[in-house]
Amino acid sequence: MGKEAIDVNWCLGKIALILIVMCLTYVCSSPIKISSDVVSNTKIQMPRIRAETPDAYMCIAVPVTDLGFSNLVGFKFDVLEEVAHHVAMAVCEDYETEQRLWDCKSGHGHICRGRSITFGGWDRRSKHHPDTVFPEDVGVQLGKDFKLNYLIVQTHFQEPILDPDSLRSNPANITLFMTQKSRKYSYQQILFHSSGYIPAFSEDFKAEIACKWRGAPVNVYEYSAHTHQYGQLLEGYIVRNNTAILVTKEKPQGKSHDTTKVKGGTIEIRPGDTLAVRCTYKNTGPNKVNFGLGESDEMCNLALTFEYDAKEIAAFPESVKCSGDAQEKVWCPRNAGDQVGVLCDLQQAAYNNMAPEDVHGVMM
Ligand SMILES: *[C@@H]1O[C@H](CO)[C@@H](O)[C@H](O)[C@H]1NC(C)=O
Ligand SMILES: *[C@@H]1O[C@H](CO)[C@@H](O)[C@H](O)[C@H]1NC(C)=O
Repeated sequence: MGKEAIDVNWCLGKIALILIVMCLTYVCSSPIKISSDVVSNTKIQMPRIRAETPDAYMCIAVPVTDLGFSNLVGFKFDVLEEVAHHVAMAVCEDYETEQRLWDCKSGHGHICRGRSITFGGWDRRSKHHPDTVFPEDVGVQLGKDFKLNYLIVQTHFQEPILDPDSLRSNPANITLFMTQKSRKYSYQQILFHSSGYIPAFSEDFKAEIACKWRGAPVNVYEYSAHTHQYGQLLEGYIVRNNTAILVTKEKPQGKSHDTTKVKGGTIEIRPGDTLAVRCTYKNTGPNKVNFGLGESDEMCNLALTFEYDAKEIAAFPESVKCSGDAQEKVWCPRNAGDQVGVLCDLQQAAYNNMAPEDVHGVMM
Protein backbone atom coordinates (compact mmCIF):
# COMPACT_ATOMS: atom_id res chain seq x y z
CA MET A 1 0.00 0.00 0.00
CA GLY A 2 1.21 3.48 -0.73
CA LYS A 3 1.38 6.78 0.97
CA GLU A 4 -2.27 7.62 0.33
CA ALA A 5 -3.26 5.01 2.93
CA ILE A 6 -1.93 7.19 5.70
CA ASP A 7 -4.06 10.01 6.82
CA VAL A 8 -2.15 12.82 8.43
CA ASN A 9 -4.17 15.73 9.70
CA TRP A 10 -2.77 18.76 11.30
CA CYS A 11 -4.15 21.97 12.48
CA LEU A 12 -1.76 24.85 12.37
CA GLY A 13 -2.31 28.29 13.66
CA LYS A 14 -5.65 27.52 15.27
CA ILE A 15 -4.14 28.45 18.55
CA ALA A 16 -7.33 29.45 20.32
CA LEU A 17 -9.12 26.28 19.34
CA ILE A 18 -6.17 24.13 20.30
CA LEU A 19 -5.83 25.78 23.67
CA ILE A 20 -9.48 25.02 24.34
CA VAL A 21 -9.04 21.43 23.21
CA MET A 22 -5.90 21.08 25.29
CA CYS A 23 -7.72 22.52 28.24
CA LEU A 24 -10.50 19.99 27.89
CA THR A 25 -8.31 17.01 27.17
CA TYR A 26 -5.15 17.76 28.97
CA VAL A 27 -4.34 20.75 31.07
CA CYS A 28 -7.50 20.80 33.11
CA SER A 29 -7.30 17.13 33.99
CA SER A 30 -3.59 16.90 34.68
CA PRO A 31 -1.28 18.36 37.29
CA ILE A 32 1.62 18.55 34.80
CA LYS A 33 2.02 21.96 33.25
CA ILE A 34 1.99 22.04 29.47
CA SER A 35 3.91 24.97 28.18
CA SER A 36 2.05 27.66 26.30
CA ASP A 37 4.26 27.53 23.20
CA VAL A 38 2.68 24.25 22.06
CA VAL A 39 0.87 25.35 18.95
CA SER A 40 0.36 22.24 16.91
CA ASN A 41 -1.62 19.13 17.63
CA THR A 42 -0.81 16.79 14.77
CA LYS A 43 -2.80 13.59 14.47
CA ILE A 44 -1.40 10.48 12.81
CA GLN A 45 -3.84 7.68 12.08
CA MET A 46 -2.89 4.04 11.79
CA PRO A 47 -5.19 2.91 8.95
CA ARG A 48 -7.50 -0.11 9.00
CA ILE A 49 -5.44 -2.95 7.58
CA ARG A 50 -5.51 -6.68 7.13
CA ALA A 51 -3.27 -8.76 9.38
CA GLU A 52 -2.98 -12.33 8.15
CA THR A 53 -1.43 -13.98 11.21
CA PRO A 54 -1.67 -13.64 14.99
CA ASP A 55 0.95 -11.37 16.59
CA ALA A 56 1.39 -9.23 13.47
CA TYR A 57 3.52 -6.07 13.65
CA MET A 58 2.57 -3.35 11.19
CA CYS A 59 4.44 -0.08 10.78
CA ILE A 60 3.72 3.23 9.12
CA ALA A 61 6.32 5.87 8.28
CA VAL A 62 5.45 9.56 8.03
CA PRO A 63 8.02 12.04 6.63
CA VAL A 64 8.55 14.67 9.32
CA THR A 65 8.17 17.34 6.61
CA ASP A 66 4.44 16.43 6.67
CA LEU A 67 4.11 17.33 10.33
CA GLY A 68 4.01 21.11 10.08
CA PHE A 69 6.13 22.05 13.07
CA SER A 70 9.55 20.66 13.76
CA ASN A 71 9.91 20.27 17.52
CA LEU A 72 8.26 17.33 19.19
CA VAL A 73 7.49 17.92 22.86
CA GLY A 74 4.98 15.20 23.68
CA PHE A 75 2.39 12.77 22.37
CA LYS A 76 -0.71 10.84 23.21
CA PHE A 77 -2.08 7.52 22.00
CA ASP A 78 -5.69 6.56 21.34
CA VAL A 79 -5.86 2.84 20.71
CA LEU A 80 -8.55 0.34 19.86
CA GLU A 81 -7.90 -1.89 22.85
CA GLU A 82 -9.63 -4.98 21.52
CA VAL A 83 -7.17 -5.35 18.62
CA ALA A 84 -3.80 -3.91 19.70
CA HIS A 85 -1.27 -5.14 22.27
CA HIS A 86 1.16 -2.25 22.02
CA VAL A 87 1.70 0.77 19.88
CA ALA A 88 5.21 2.23 19.83
CA MET A 89 6.69 5.28 18.19
CA ALA A 90 10.15 6.30 16.99
CA VAL A 91 11.79 9.03 14.95
CA CYS A 92 14.60 7.94 12.62
CA GLU A 93 17.05 9.24 10.08
CA ASP A 94 15.97 6.41 7.75
CA TYR A 95 14.26 3.02 8.04
CA GLU A 96 14.37 -0.52 6.77
CA THR A 97 12.18 -0.27 3.65
CA GLU A 98 10.94 2.12 0.97
CA GLN A 99 7.31 1.47 1.84
CA ARG A 100 5.10 3.72 3.91
CA LEU A 101 3.01 0.89 5.36
CA TRP A 102 4.58 -2.51 5.87
CA ASP A 103 4.80 -5.69 7.92
CA CYS A 104 7.70 -4.87 10.28
CA LYS A 105 7.85 -8.03 12.37
CA SER A 106 11.10 -9.39 10.96
CA GLY A 107 12.97 -6.17 11.70
CA HIS A 108 11.67 -6.19 15.26
CA GLY A 109 13.64 -3.66 17.23
CA HIS A 110 15.87 -2.79 14.25
CA ILE A 111 13.55 -0.78 12.08
CA CYS A 112 15.48 2.49 12.13
CA ARG A 113 18.66 3.25 10.21
CA GLY A 114 21.05 5.98 11.30
CA ARG A 115 20.12 8.38 14.08
CA SER A 116 17.02 7.32 16.02
CA ILE A 117 14.99 8.01 19.13
CA THR A 118 12.48 5.46 20.33
CA PHE A 119 9.71 6.45 22.70
CA GLY A 120 7.77 4.42 25.14
CA GLY A 121 4.41 3.70 23.65
CA TRP A 122 0.99 2.52 24.58
CA ASP A 123 0.75 -0.87 26.23
CA ARG A 124 -2.42 -2.74 27.10
CA ARG A 125 -0.90 -4.14 30.29
CA SER A 126 -0.12 -0.75 31.76
CA LYS A 127 -2.75 0.57 34.09
CA HIS A 128 -2.29 4.20 33.19
CA HIS A 129 -2.08 5.75 29.77
CA PRO A 130 -1.28 9.36 30.51
CA ASP A 131 -0.25 11.74 27.77
CA THR A 132 3.51 11.99 27.48
CA VAL A 133 4.65 15.55 27.93
CA PHE A 134 8.37 16.26 28.00
CA PRO A 135 9.73 18.62 30.67
CA GLU A 136 9.48 22.28 29.67
CA ASP A 137 13.07 22.51 28.43
CA VAL A 138 13.10 19.16 26.54
CA GLY A 139 12.16 18.66 22.90
CA VAL A 140 13.18 16.63 19.86
CA GLN A 141 14.19 18.70 16.85
CA LEU A 142 13.05 16.98 13.68
CA GLY A 143 14.25 17.37 10.12
CA LYS A 144 17.24 16.91 7.87
CA ASP A 145 19.59 19.11 9.89
CA PHE A 146 18.97 16.92 12.92
CA LYS A 147 19.08 13.62 11.03
CA LEU A 148 15.53 12.74 11.97
CA ASN A 149 13.49 12.43 8.77
CA TYR A 150 10.71 9.94 9.55
CA LEU A 151 8.28 9.25 12.29
CA ILE A 152 7.49 5.55 12.62
CA VAL A 153 4.48 4.07 14.37
CA GLN A 154 4.47 0.35 15.07
CA THR A 155 1.30 -1.50 16.05
CA HIS A 156 1.38 -5.01 17.47
CA PHE A 157 -1.93 -6.78 16.81
CA GLN A 158 -3.03 -9.71 18.86
CA GLU A 159 -5.35 -11.66 16.55
CA PRO A 160 -5.44 -11.72 12.75
CA ILE A 161 -7.63 -9.01 11.24
CA LEU A 162 -9.27 -10.61 8.24
CA ASP A 163 -11.97 -8.02 7.72
CA PRO A 164 -10.60 -4.57 8.59
CA ASP A 165 -13.93 -2.95 7.71
CA SER A 166 -15.57 -4.74 10.61
CA LEU A 167 -13.40 -2.85 13.16
CA ARG A 168 -15.16 -0.23 15.27
CA SER A 169 -12.58 2.34 14.11
CA ASN A 170 -9.04 2.55 12.80
CA PRO A 171 -6.65 0.78 15.25
CA ALA A 172 -4.72 3.76 16.62
CA ASN A 173 -4.29 7.51 16.51
CA ILE A 174 -1.20 9.33 17.73
CA THR A 175 -1.49 12.97 18.59
CA LEU A 176 1.82 14.83 18.54
CA PHE A 177 2.37 17.95 20.63
CA MET A 178 4.73 20.20 18.72
CA THR A 179 6.28 23.63 19.01
CA GLN A 180 7.81 26.09 16.63
CA LYS A 181 10.63 27.01 18.98
CA SER A 182 13.40 24.56 19.74
CA ARG A 183 14.26 23.70 23.31
CA LYS A 184 17.50 23.56 25.24
CA TYR A 185 17.66 19.82 25.82
CA SER A 186 17.11 16.78 23.66
CA TYR A 187 15.65 13.39 24.64
CA GLN A 188 17.20 9.93 24.72
CA GLN A 189 17.00 6.69 26.72
CA ILE A 190 19.27 4.17 28.39
CA LEU A 191 17.86 0.64 28.04
CA PHE A 192 18.92 -2.22 30.31
CA HIS A 193 18.20 -5.81 29.48
CA SER A 194 19.17 -9.29 30.52
CA SER A 195 19.81 -12.49 28.56
CA GLY A 196 20.23 -16.06 29.82
CA TYR A 197 17.73 -17.83 32.07
CA ILE A 198 16.31 -18.26 35.56
CA PRO A 199 17.15 -21.76 36.79
CA ALA A 200 14.39 -24.14 37.90
CA PHE A 201 13.58 -24.31 41.63
CA SER A 202 15.05 -20.90 42.46
CA GLU A 203 13.55 -18.96 45.34
CA ASP A 204 15.84 -15.96 45.00
CA PHE A 205 17.63 -15.64 41.66
CA LYS A 206 19.32 -12.40 40.75
CA ALA A 207 20.04 -11.16 37.23
CA GLU A 208 22.67 -8.41 37.40
CA ILE A 209 23.59 -5.75 34.86
CA ALA A 210 26.31 -3.11 35.19
CA CYS A 211 27.90 -0.67 32.74
CA LYS A 212 30.36 2.16 32.95
CA TRP A 213 29.06 5.52 31.66
CA ARG A 214 31.47 6.95 29.10
CA GLY A 215 29.18 9.55 27.59
CA ALA A 216 28.74 13.21 28.42
CA PRO A 217 26.97 14.22 31.65
CA VAL A 218 23.19 13.80 31.35
CA ASN A 219 20.14 14.18 33.61
CA VAL A 220 17.68 11.33 34.07
CA TYR A 221 14.14 12.55 34.68
CA GLU A 222 11.94 9.47 34.39
CA TYR A 223 12.12 5.70 34.22
CA SER A 224 10.09 2.61 33.52
CA ALA A 225 10.77 -0.79 35.11
CA HIS A 226 9.50 -3.99 33.55
CA THR A 227 9.61 -7.70 34.34
CA HIS A 228 7.14 -10.52 33.70
CA GLN A 229 5.37 -12.72 36.23
CA TYR A 230 8.45 -14.16 38.00
CA GLY A 231 9.86 -10.72 38.92
CA GLN A 232 9.92 -9.87 42.64
CA LEU A 233 12.10 -6.78 42.78
CA LEU A 234 13.92 -4.47 40.37
CA GLU A 235 16.69 -2.18 41.62
CA GLY A 236 18.56 0.54 39.74
CA TYR A 237 21.52 2.55 41.05
CA ILE A 238 24.05 5.06 39.83
CA VAL A 239 27.36 4.37 41.55
CA ARG A 240 29.85 7.22 41.84
CA ASN A 241 33.01 7.28 43.90
CA ASN A 242 31.87 4.42 46.11
CA THR A 243 28.48 5.91 46.75
CA ALA A 244 25.29 4.41 45.35
CA ILE A 245 22.49 6.74 44.34
CA LEU A 246 19.17 4.95 44.30
CA VAL A 247 17.11 5.42 41.14
CA THR A 248 14.45 2.82 41.84
CA LYS A 249 13.76 -0.19 44.02
CA GLU A 250 10.32 -1.60 43.31
CA LYS A 251 8.18 -4.61 42.74
CA PRO A 252 7.38 -4.37 39.00
CA GLN A 253 3.69 -4.72 38.29
CA GLY A 254 3.21 -7.79 36.06
CA LYS A 255 4.36 -6.81 32.57
CA SER A 256 3.37 -3.16 32.81
CA HIS A 257 5.47 -0.38 31.28
CA ASP A 258 4.22 2.45 33.48
CA THR A 259 6.62 5.39 33.70
CA THR A 260 7.59 7.14 36.92
CA LYS A 261 9.07 10.61 37.35
CA VAL A 262 12.38 10.72 39.22
CA LYS A 263 11.86 11.93 42.77
CA GLY A 264 13.14 15.47 43.18
CA GLY A 265 13.27 16.18 39.43
CA THR A 266 16.43 14.74 37.92
CA ILE A 267 19.44 12.56 38.74
CA GLU A 268 22.73 13.33 37.04
CA ILE A 269 24.91 10.69 35.41
CA ARG A 270 28.56 11.70 35.06
CA PRO A 271 31.37 10.20 33.00
CA GLY A 272 32.94 7.40 35.06
CA ASP A 273 29.74 6.48 36.91
CA THR A 274 28.65 2.86 36.98
CA LEU A 275 25.02 2.11 36.15
CA ALA A 276 23.82 -0.94 38.04
CA VAL A 277 20.55 -2.85 37.68
CA ARG A 278 19.44 -6.05 39.34
CA CYS A 279 16.24 -8.08 39.10
CA THR A 280 15.22 -10.69 41.65
CA TYR A 281 13.05 -13.63 40.59
CA LYS A 282 11.24 -16.52 42.16
CA ASN A 283 10.79 -19.55 39.92
CA THR A 284 9.69 -22.50 42.05
CA GLY A 285 8.75 -24.58 38.98
CA PRO A 286 10.68 -27.54 37.55
CA ASN A 287 11.67 -25.71 34.33
CA LYS A 288 14.12 -22.93 33.69
CA VAL A 289 12.66 -19.69 32.37
CA ASN A 290 14.51 -17.97 29.53
CA PHE A 291 14.90 -14.24 29.07
CA GLY A 292 13.44 -13.19 25.74
CA LEU A 293 10.67 -11.47 23.83
CA GLY A 294 8.01 -14.20 24.10
CA GLU A 295 4.94 -14.03 26.31
CA SER A 296 6.21 -16.83 28.57
CA ASP A 297 9.80 -15.55 28.67
CA GLU A 298 11.11 -13.26 31.39
CA MET A 299 12.61 -9.78 31.18
CA CYS A 300 14.74 -7.52 33.33
CA ASN A 301 14.19 -4.16 31.68
CA LEU A 302 14.79 -0.71 32.98
CA ALA A 303 14.50 2.34 30.71
CA LEU A 304 15.95 5.62 31.96
CA THR A 305 14.88 8.71 30.04
CA PHE A 306 17.43 11.50 30.08
CA GLU A 307 17.91 15.00 28.72
CA TYR A 308 21.12 16.30 27.18
CA ASP A 309 22.32 19.42 25.41
CA ALA A 310 20.30 19.68 22.18
CA LYS A 311 23.25 21.25 20.34
CA GLU A 312 25.20 17.99 20.71
CA ILE A 313 23.24 16.15 18.04
CA ALA A 314 26.02 13.60 17.53
CA ALA A 315 26.28 12.75 21.24
CA PHE A 316 23.61 10.05 21.45
CA PRO A 317 22.70 8.91 17.93
CA GLU A 318 20.57 6.12 19.36
CA SER A 319 19.43 4.79 22.72
CA VAL A 320 22.28 3.67 24.99
CA LYS A 321 22.12 -0.07 25.67
CA CYS A 322 23.45 -1.86 28.72
CA SER A 323 22.91 -5.58 28.88
CA GLY A 324 24.00 -8.52 30.99
CA ASP A 325 23.94 -12.30 31.01
CA ALA A 326 21.89 -13.50 33.99
CA GLN A 327 24.37 -16.37 34.52
CA GLU A 328 27.21 -13.91 35.14
CA LYS A 329 27.58 -12.15 38.46
CA VAL A 330 28.74 -8.64 37.61
CA TRP A 331 27.80 -6.73 40.74
CA CYS A 332 30.56 -8.38 42.73
CA PRO A 333 32.56 -10.82 40.61
CA ARG A 334 35.24 -12.99 42.20
CA ASN A 335 38.11 -10.86 40.92
CA ALA A 336 36.40 -7.60 41.69
CA GLY A 337 38.52 -4.63 40.70
CA ASP A 338 38.15 -1.14 42.08
CA GLN A 339 35.45 -0.17 39.66
CA VAL A 340 32.87 -2.54 41.11
CA GLY A 341 33.89 -2.21 44.76
CA VAL A 342 30.77 -0.46 45.90
CA LEU A 343 28.59 -2.98 44.14
CA CYS A 344 29.96 -5.64 46.51
CA ASP A 345 29.00 -3.36 49.39
CA LEU A 346 25.58 -2.87 47.87
CA GLN A 347 25.14 -6.58 47.49
CA GLN A 348 26.29 -7.19 51.05
CA ALA A 349 23.97 -4.51 52.39
CA ALA A 350 21.10 -5.89 50.38
CA TYR A 351 21.62 -9.39 51.81
CA ASN A 352 22.00 -8.08 55.36
CA ASN A 353 18.99 -5.82 55.18
CA MET A 354 16.66 -8.20 53.45
CA ALA A 355 14.81 -9.56 56.40
CA PRO A 356 11.57 -11.12 55.13
CA GLU A 357 9.52 -8.20 56.48
CA ASP A 358 11.59 -5.77 54.45
CA VAL A 359 11.10 -7.70 51.26
CA HIS A 360 7.42 -7.78 51.98
CA GLY A 361 7.48 -4.04 52.56
CA VAL A 362 9.20 -3.38 49.26
CA MET A 363 6.87 -5.71 47.45
CA MET A 364 3.74 -3.85 48.49
C1 LIG B 1 -8.99 8.32 15.27
O1 LIG B 1 -9.46 9.56 14.82
C2 LIG B 1 -10.59 9.47 13.96
C3 LIG B 1 -10.90 10.85 13.44
O2 LIG B 1 -10.99 11.77 14.47
C4 LIG B 1 -11.75 8.83 14.72
O3 LIG B 1 -12.88 8.69 13.90
C5 LIG B 1 -11.31 7.45 15.24
O4 LIG B 1 -12.33 6.88 16.03
C6 LIG B 1 -10.03 7.57 16.05
N1 LIG B 1 -9.55 6.25 16.39
C7 LIG B 1 -9.25 5.87 17.66
C8 LIG B 1 -8.69 4.50 17.83
O5 LIG B 1 -9.41 6.59 18.62
C1 LIG C 1 35.46 11.18 42.71
O1 LIG C 1 36.18 11.81 43.74
C2 LIG C 1 37.39 12.41 43.32
C3 LIG C 1 38.14 12.92 44.55
O2 LIG C 1 37.29 13.50 45.48
C4 LIG C 1 37.08 13.54 42.33
O3 LIG C 1 38.28 14.14 41.87
C5 LIG C 1 36.32 12.94 41.14
O4 LIG C 1 35.95 13.96 40.24
C6 LIG C 1 35.09 12.20 41.61
N1 LIG C 1 34.48 11.52 40.49
C7 LIG C 1 33.23 11.74 40.11
C8 LIG C 1 32.75 10.95 38.95
O5 LIG C 1 32.49 12.52 40.68
